[in-house]
Amino acid sequence: AESITVQELAEKLKKTAAEVIKKLMQMGIMASINQEVDYDTATIIAGEFGVETELKVAVDKEAILMAEPEDNEANLIIRPPVVTIMGHVDHGKTSLLDAIRETNVTAGEAGGITQHIGAYQVEHNGKKITFVDTPGHAAFTAMRARGAEITDIAILVVAADDGVMPQTIEAINHAKAAEVPIIVAINKVDKPEANPDKVKQELTQHELVVEDWGGDVIAVPVSAKQRTGLDNLLEMILLVAEVNELKADPERMARGTVIEAELDKGRGPVATVLVQNGTLRIGDTIVAGHVLGRVRAMIDDKGRRVKKAGPSTPVEILGLSDVPEAGDTLVAVEDEKLAREVAAKRQIRKREEELKVTNKISLDDLFKYI
Ligand code: GTP
Ligand code: MG
Repeated sequence: AESITVQELAEKLKKTAAEVIKKLMQMGIMASINQEVDYDTATIIAGEFGVETELKVAVDKEAILMAEPEDNEANLIIRPPVVTIMGHVDHGKTSLLDAIRETNVTAGEAGGITQHIGAYQVEHNGKKITFVDTPGHAAFTAMRARGAEITDIAILVVAADDGVMPQTIEAINHAKAAEVPIIVAINKVDKPEANPDKVKQELTQHELVVEDWGGDVIAVPVSAKQRTGLDNLLEMILLVAEVNELKADPERMARGTVIEAELDKGRGPVATVLVQNGTLRIGDTIVAGHVLGRVRAMIDDKGRRVKKAGPSTPVEILGLSDVPEAGDTLVAVEDEKLAREVAAKRQIRKREEELKVTNKISLDDLFKYI
């Protein structure tokens, strides 16, 4: 499945594209410079040039590390939905996230309110819901650009006094592209100038027809300020989650996505990870992007130390060798050598890419003085 263009292959082998094309022709393959050849062919070509190629090995190792293991049907459990909040500036995304969190934290967890790890879980009627607390757009654009899909359900916040605005439309498009179900939270209904019907009417122009208008889009009137409609919203989230049958295998080794990461002065590299499948445990060897690590400690969204984190659980982890990037996939692996090799390869690649940028700049700078 892996392939490389003739041009890239030539560069890797330090040959001209013409030389590579000639070799391909000798093998009976007619190829142009931009054509893709598979790695088996590329390896043979490399061998023809007497180049002992690391190409295949490197790529395959990465593929082995990233290969999604099969869920064991017998182990499958229902996992909590992962919810992202999106919407136009000032329509109340942060207020809504805060209101949901603060009204659903039980007394014993009260101290956890101040804890911020980029995602949190609440319980409603005995069922958990995971909210990703980073700005919805960042979560969608940065992570989607990197191929990371973390959201099961998108909450589209539309202020009832303002209606559908440019970023509302942008959010709708993002959710649609990702094929993520949308629940509309019509916010600020406490305001005298609130006009929920106008919001519904405007939504139809973007192919979101709400239920009371004969469509299938759930819309819930809420006020983040007065904290009304929140239970109803959570109810609807659980309903949509149930329809979508979100399952995971907690017996697997963990796989997740880095939601945010930073270098903490005292604790070193710290990453908030959303475990999407499997269970992450203390002591696990992990790779997140170019970063190798071993889970030294885990802290949940309530600030408690935990020993393991199952599917849909957000958790802060310590024990990384460097700071990964938001959107990086995290995998826990048994094979430490493999983890080390892949992380090292990615580090080199990352450095090469950074160098390319610096070189380009210095070259530009150079021309300035000529
Ligand atoms: P950005 O992060 O800047 O895009 O904004 P946001 O969508 O997170 O909105 P935020 O929660 O910061 O709210 C914006 C303003 O609307 C604040 O002044 C809130 O107090 C106000 N607000 C949010 N929800 C409500 C509500 O339900 N009713 C009223 N009356 N005001 C609200
Ligand atoms: Mg905000």
